[in-house]
Amino acid sequence: MADHAEDGFPADAERLVTGLTVDECLRLVRGKDFWNTTDLDGRVPSVMLTDGPHGLRKQAGAADHIGLSDAVPATCFPVAAALAATWDVELVREVGEALGREARAADVAVLLGPGLNMKRHPRGGRNFEYFSEDPVLSGSLAAALVEGVQSQGVVACPKHFAANNQETMRMVVDTVVDERTLREVYLRGFEMVVERARPQAFMTAYNRINGTYCSDNSWLVRDVLRREWGFDGLVMSDWGGTNDRAAALRAGLDLEMPGNSGTFDDEVRAALADGSLDESLLRASASRVVEMALRGDALRCGARADVDLDAHHELARRAAAEATVLLTNDGTLPLASAEGLAIVGAFAETPRYQGAGSSRVNPTRLDSLRDVLGRDVPFVAGYDADSGECTRMQRAEAADLARAAAVVVLVVGVPARLEAETRDRPTVRLTASMEKLVLEVCEANPRTVVVLQNGGALELDWADRPAALVEAYLGGQASGLGLADVLLGRAEPGGRLAESFPVATAALPADANFPGPPRQVQYREGPWVGYRFHDAYAVAARFPFGHGLGYTTWDVRGLRVEGDGVRRTAVVTVQNTGARKGSAVVQVYVRKPDSVVPRAAKELAGFVRVHLEAGASCEVQIPLERRVFSLWDRAGRWVVEAGDYDVMAATSSVDVRDVATIRIESDDVVTPVRATAGPVATDAEFAAMLGHDIPVPEPLRPFRRTSTMSEVAQSRVGGVLVGLMKRQMAKMAGDDPETRDLLEGVVAGLPVRGLAAMGDGLTLPAIDRVLALLNGQWVEVVRGR
Ligand code: BGC
Repeated sequence: MADHAEDGFPADAERLVTGLTVDECLRLVRGKDFWNTTDLDGRVPSVMLTDGPHGLRKQAGAADHIGLSDAVPATCFPVAAALAATWDVELVREVGEALGREARAADVAVLLGPGLNMKRHPRGGRNFEYFSEDPVLSGSLAAALVEGVQSQGVVACPKHFAANNQETMRMVVDTVVDERTLREVYLRGFEMVVERARPQAFMTAYNRINGTYCSDNSWLVRDVLRREWGFDGLVMSDWGGTNDRAAALRAGLDLEMPGNSGTFDDEVRAALADGSLDESLLRASASRVVEMALRGDALRCGARADVDLDAHHELARRAAAEATVLLTNDGTLPLASAEGLAIVGAFAETPRYQGAGSSRVNPTRLDSLRDVLGRDVPFVAGYDADSGECTRMQRAEAADLARAAAVVVLVVGVPARLEAETRDRPTVRLTASMEKLVLEVCEANPRTVVVLQNGGALELDWADRPAALVEAYLGGQASGLGLADVLLGRAEPGGRLAESFPVATAALPADANFPGPPRQVQYREGPWVGYRFHDAYAVAARFPFGHGLGYTTWDVRGLRVEGDGVRRTAVVTVQNTGARKGSAVVQVYVRKPDSVVPRAAKELAGFVRVHLEAGASCEVQIPLERRVFSLWDRAGRWVVEAGDYDVMAATSSVDVRDVATIRIESDDVVTPVRATAGPVATDAEFAAMLGHDIPVPEPLRPFRRTSTMSEVAQSRVGGVLVGLMKRQMAKMAGDDPETRDLLEGVVAGLPVRGLAAMGDGLTLPAIDRVLALLNGQWVEVVRGR
């Protein structure tokens, strides 16, 4: 894309906005409807913004105002959780390009993705839409996706900024987190995307951080994103996530989405009148909206992108295979052929290939494993695809089929309804009856390959029972082809875990505060998330971060670190020591022993994916940036601690192949910090980490604009109101269970102010009167006070 400073759009936009009235600016800084920006009679064009991260979700025709009607067909690529398992920056960039091409051809100016929140806890309901538990991996891949999308002229919009790591109470929850953890773990990926890919838009998250809604958060948006990181694009709210429009404009949030009939206009006018909001800020935001619209419009006038849907399907197939993680294998895989094979599992026929919610794509086509392997291969469903449950009879039938086969592929996983936006995952296990099915089929035939289709980490007590265990994630519309390629050895299972699979979720420190008491979640575990915890506290994961077996073996050796100061390069030799061509992911971790502050036993610093023929070797170079050696100091700045650092070349977070120690000189002053006694901070330790008392969670009552529907439903009148809404929503959802669940989740979590902000609903004063009634202030309401 053209450079902001050099191209004409910012100047044109500014000039245009100078001639506009305040009311026109107010219209511009909110959407026209659910998916489009506002146009001003020929002077400012309107452009379309639409989901999503792994495929275009452009609603056809007149979209309903909650955005759930069917989308036009588009290629459904593997979800972010799967793409992350590829650890392949080039491949993710290619997927981004394809997404950009499809968006451009559909006249979509802004693609709402990637989502790159950290996977703080395996039960996070949108983990399938996010990349990793590690910020460097997330940031690198998100940057590649953004570059790909924007190479087509389409604007990418990283989301949800920031610390939006759960679905429970997502629209109001207050994330209480210390600044060091925030900077090093939860913001780092976003910062990398800005540095590396210069996205032209950003979306704030629904939640609050340390008391302030992300939409209104001047520290987050103005100070960190714009001033410190130099972001010069447009910031928009998440849909219905604007809390206080005047505060949001002060914070630098330009565009309120979706559109409404001016919910906040009176409040913004009042803020302009009393001087608490400077008109120049409103104009600056309007100007950024106009700039984006002009860019989008210019793209529209240019040549339409050619979209080769067959080529995109092939790319989705390749990505699915590259994302497939071979967790265990006794040599049964790859299969020599489909001969003697039996298939068990409803997902082999009705694949789980994407998650539910705003990212749900209407695929251009869909391959099931059964279709690909051949309808003549003996098959039983074994369980119900919707519930994931099976009866004793179904299991017996599956075991009989397995007994008669030479080898069995058993496809299991998590039913779609248990992995959806608006809800955290109720469990990280397969259903109990499905686990029994796995055990009984493995018992009936020891040559059973179990394939998992799911969006996030699972507890897999039985992992040593199958002959091979394959994590296929939600592999997109070509997942059937990609999986068959891997099973039959036509492709390498290229995936490496981008998240740890714990033995027991209950043993994770984040579990002590997930999802937290209503309205507040305390990140008392600080940085001890994922492999950082497993490593530091010597609690082994069932499958560690970075793990994945291919069909060949690797030697990683001869590590040396070149360069000086804080700009270094790790150089290491990689050799394919097996008999097949394959790919490896070389991961470089860094550790600072003897630090004066608690630090992880190792942190990912960089990585590279290498493809080599059998026996071949090569030297790879992995740059180590200054930030790799930095930490966020109590004094409020990044510092580099002087001394020795271990640089490790590894093939997973527990499989270190070579170590080199280097010395880093630095004059930075590092404030010493005492370690917490355990991975979950006590009250006193947490207060010390925060630098102030632990905030008291908000009380439920009195009800206010930010009370959720599920909260007001606890009162008698509220219960009736919410009941009516739910019935209305159920009608809109029709008989699609996923949509019904989603709408139920949306209603339950919606703050009361959302009734005004989404669509042409109630006005804020009307909402305040309803709240007064719910709070029992009948007399005041009747007297019109
Ligand atoms: C989601 C966003 C999405 C938006 C528009 C919100 O509910 O959090 O990720 O982009 O809806 O569909």
